[in-house]
Amino acid sequence: MSKITISLIKADVGGWPGHATVHPALIETAESMLAQEKTSGRLVDYRVMAVGDDLQLLMSHTKGADNTEIHGLAWEIFCNATEKAKELKLYGAGQDLLCDAFSGNVKGMGPGVAELEFEERTAEPLVAFMMDKTEPGAFNLPIYKIFGDPFNTAGLIIDPSVHMGFIFEVWDIQEHKRVFMNCPEEMYDILALIGAKSRYVIKRVYPKPDGKLPEDEAVAAISTEKLYQTAGKYVGKDDPVALVRCQSGLPALGEVLEPFALGHLVSGWMRGSHNGPLMPCAFEDAHCTRFDGPPRVIAAGFQIANGTFVGPVDLFKDPAFDLTRRRVQEITDYMRRHGPFEPHRLPMEDMEYTTLPDVLKNLGTRFENVE
Ligand code: F6R
Ligand code: MG
Ligand code: MG
Repeated sequence: MSKITISLIKADVGGWPGHATVHPALIETAESMLAQEKTSGRLVDYRVMAVGDDLQLLMSHTKGADNTEIHGLAWEIFCNATEKAKELKLYGAGQDLLCDAFSGNVKGMGPGVAELEFEERTAEPLVAFMMDKTEPGAFNLPIYKIFGDPFNTAGLIIDPSVHMGFIFEVWDIQEHKRVFMNCPEEMYDILALIGAKSRYVIKRVYPKPDGKLPEDEAVAAISTEKLYQTAGKYVGKDDPVALVRCQSGLPALGEVLEPFALGHLVSGWMRGSHNGPLMPCAFEDAHCTRFDGPPRVIAAGFQIANGTFVGPVDLFKDPAFDLTRRRVQEITDYMRRHGPFEPHRLPMEDMEYTTLPDVLKNLGTRFENVE
């Protein structure tokens, strides 16, 4: 069988109400269009999902990553869903569609994209992670822990097929540059970069050469689009997604999910301008209500069978994550009590809403020099 491509493409094309959830009518619009594409043979399979106000299109096909037809299809679906959102007067209809016309690839046009192309193994487990009210750098900590941290991933120590480690592709999203780094050899340097998560983000992870898996096929991919950089001004949060393959020479499913038990602090939340804990939750609980949050992550688990999606399994719908959720609620409360103070509020340069220039302008010459 030829290689299969999994494309996860998402956009916020209207919230219900405010920025809380996706209206079922938008999901139906996407479902019916994708069903036709499956019948016509353009797609092998698809699933439509949602987290917070983001509509998620998961597609499998044999056309490779960055394919014009597939990206064009996603764009058309988002445009049709926007029309529906306008009819229902949903909030921020079309907010993530930054251009009027599609030009070959959705990258830089607003939607977020994670894609993996690979030779399907005898059994191919895959997790699609989808986050709302946060930024691509929110994936740095969990992806690092999955593929680089032996305190998280036992396989790095005790499984000979995982023991050699992985290669991280890290992007500087301000300078639009990338670097490939070996882990564990360059672990400290990797962490020096990706700890600065608003600038350096993990884009892909690759197996090491001479291992069990082909070295040119990424085993994880993260969307790294930055909406406000794309648009030149703030138009909405670039809520990220990721695809992660598991097992047999890769971290096990449980090692892939384990980092999310922390409820780590991420940037985003209310007005894209606050730090808060990331809550792993069930699909049905992925509604951002408390202070427009707290930021959420859902995990959809699949076996891939000749390109079809066997699933999803709602992986965080599990009492084993209840304690995390309780802790996240306590941290939410604690952070909220800081009101407009950092580090709950983001540093000035990272805020997506600010009155500061106006405040300074109004104060004008009232600022006096001091010795
Ligand atoms: C954050 C987010 C929301 C909005 C907030 C204000 O990513 O989407 O927190 O920023 O609800 O929204 P507007 O400016 O549309 O009233
Ligand atoms: Mg929105
Ligand atoms: Mg969103």
